[in-house]
Amino acid sequence: MGDSAKISVNDSEYEYGVHSGSCGPDVVDIRKLYSETGLFTFDPGFKSTASCESGLTYIDGGQGILLHRGYPIEQLAEQSSFMEVAYLLLNGELPSSKEFADFERTITLHTMVHEQLKELYRGFRRDAHPMAIMCGVVGALSAFYHDSTDITDPEQRMIASHRMIAKMPTIAAMAYKYAIGQPFLYPDNDLSYTGNFLRMTFGVPAEEYELDPVIEKAMDRIFILHADHEQNASTSTVRLAGSSGANPFACIASGIACLWGPAHGGANEAALNMLREIGTPDRIGEYIDRAKDKEDPFRLMGFGHRVYKNFDPRAKVMKETATDVLNTLGVDDPIFDVARELEQIALNDEYFIEKKLYPNVDFYSGVILSAIGFPTTMFTVLFAIARTVGWVAQWNEMISDPDQTIGRPRQLYTGPEQRDYVPVGSR
Ligand code: ACO
Repeated sequence: MGDSAKISVNDSEYEYGVHSGSCGPDVVDIRKLYSETGLFTFDPGFKSTASCESGLTYIDGGQGILLHRGYPIEQLAEQSSFMEVAYLLLNGELPSSKEFADFERTITLHTMVHEQLKELYRGFRRDAHPMAIMCGVVGALSAFYHDSTDITDPEQRMIASHRMIAKMPTIAAMAYKYAIGQPFLYPDNDLSYTGNFLRMTFGVPAEEYELDPVIEKAMDRIFILHADHEQNASTSTVRLAGSSGANPFACIASGIACLWGPAHGGANEAALNMLREIGTPDRIGEYIDRAKDKEDPFRLMGFGHRVYKNFDPRAKVMKETATDVLNTLGVDDPIFDVARELEQIALNDEYFIEKKLYPNVDFYSGVILSAIGFPTTMFTVLFAIARTVGWVAQWNEMISDPDQTIGRPRQLYTGPEQRDYVPVGSR
């Protein structure tokens, strides 16, 4: 592509600059399109629209590449830790040992939540979906940290970011404990970020909690795999909410709300439910046929992705992690057999090949999380813990961008033209 793009409207031609990033497609800068031509662009679902400039995460969907600050996700999942990836996303570079120790300590010092926050949980029904609780409680954090947060001050932004990353596991574990009627556990700052979360979730005050290092590692890896994914729906929601200067905790609550949907973070819950419904490998054909039937709204959950059209690199790591966890726990879950066989059948089916539909990160994550002991309703909550890192890093990047302005899309209006109001008696 050259360094400009021309648009002809009636007899006039307009020229727009083309910008190149460090990787990926160039972009046509159409910011002046409306003022110069009176036209909007029409792109529902933002299939061709870059909404911002970002240096955090790069995805090449065709090649199945995912990089955080340039580092491939496979290397991070294999060699790094979730806390180190959090540092990387927030600060741009991998930390030195001293920087990392300081960062871990800082996060650890923020793991407790205000004691009064406990009262908020009691207002929820016991059978409330934990994502509903997460939306409410994280939104409520804005009431605890409102006056102290000046988002124009980078230092205060970083404190708010550290608080959100640190408190999210505590809030999530409390949502779980509330649902099952067990007492909340305070954080244990001697444990790792992930170990502490597992203890707060599965431990009880009456007994010492024994942390299994294989499960801790698998959970940490799942967090790494979900940490950021450039301008996905929930991240774009956080950016849009944040673009008005809103309180950062409220912005993250909006991201949680968006993540909950089955087309996004809710897919891992939906994928496991689907595998359970299939139950045995002999019923796979029936579900493949349903997925291909245009009259049937059913889709293979955990399959397909807006961006990955070759394979999802996170799904590969997730499949290996599933094998590790099931072997360690000695779990012989028939659902894993169904998943593996369904994957093979779908990958060899013309419909899925032609539409470039591959397993996404959610396809195997449910199998692992279920083996660890999480109920399906907690799956998206775990995703939210991890993605909080991406959300706060993207939010920080947006606020510090000199070109940042309130997000305000346009529309193609197809409603009635102007007409006069008719009083109710005359209608
Ligand atoms: N099963 C069956 N058919 C599918 C599936 C699927 N899982 N996904 C897409 N298709 C078909 C669609 O019917 C459509 O067919 P058509 O061209 O004949 O109309 C075609 O493939 C393209 O689908 P779109 O929905 O247009 O693709 P899009 O990029 O908008 O959607 C999405 C991506 C939402 C992820 C979709 O693949 C889907 O619904 N998958 C199941 C839900 C899921 O697993 N979501 C998790 C995403 S990953 C994440 O959020 C972490």
